[in-house]
Amino acid sequence: METRVDEIAERIYRLSTFLPKLGPSGFTFNQFLVDADEPLLFHCGQRALFPAVSVAAARIMDLRRLRWVTFSHIEADECGALDEWLDAAPDATVTHGAIGCAIWLNDQAPRPPRALGNDEVLDLGGRRVRRLDTPHVPHCWDAGLLYEEVTGTLFTSDLFTHVGDPPALSGGDIVGPAMAAERQFGFTAVTPTTGTTVRRLAALRPRTLAVMHGSSFSGDAPAVLESLAGFYDHLLQKSAAPHGG
Ligand SMILES: [Fe+2]
Ligand SMILES: [Fe+2]
Repeated sequence: METRVDEIAERIYRLSTFLPKLGPSGFTFNQFLVDADEPLLFHCGQRALFPAVSVAAARIMDLRRLRWVTFSHIEADECGALDEWLDAAPDATVTHGAIGCAIWLNDQAPRPPRALGNDEVLDLGGRRVRRLDTPHVPHCWDAGLLYEEVTGTLFTSDLFTHVGDPPALSGGDIVGPAMAAERQFGFTAVTPTTGTTVRRLAALRPRTLAVMHGSSFSGDAPAVLESLAGFYDHLLQKSAAPHGG
């Protein structure tokens, strides 16, 4: 197992591990390292991935420099290796939204977490990340996303999930492959607020989408997010219509 490293925006690194035997055409698990005065890791990966991912991260920086570890929601690929990362980075603090701290981290984290409010900004020194509460988007009550304001990078977690081992960064169509994966796996908790939540992300006018499974995207990200919001609205309408629409 090997983790590849790509810089997808200035000083924002994608750590990607491809598991070829997962599903019909393999699947990537991507973590993101934001290099700043106070470096931040978004997503830990599963414990089984930690040896490969941490070796890759150490090619970018001494892991003891890490100051923040955070993730979208509580699942093994998002935060399974949290303890391992906090061991490797003794000065790092885990941070998450208020709900996530209340239902998980206050009890399970090896060190006290820092709870971030909705829209609260962490100034990392050279990079600024904004926490966005997005309950149940893509899934889980504690879900939230992160927006790096200096580079205009939105960390989308499982939104735009697609299969295979596509390029690290794409300007092509990621919505079509994401719709196909959604139809195949049904991983998003589609509710009446899903489309609204995704449109709130589009309003940030991001330039880069850092995607957890598949290619990251550079280009007209607001249009891509609008398109995804429309897809979820359509799914909801279809499921609510008599006989499934
Ligand atoms: Fe997830
Ligand atoms: Fe995920």
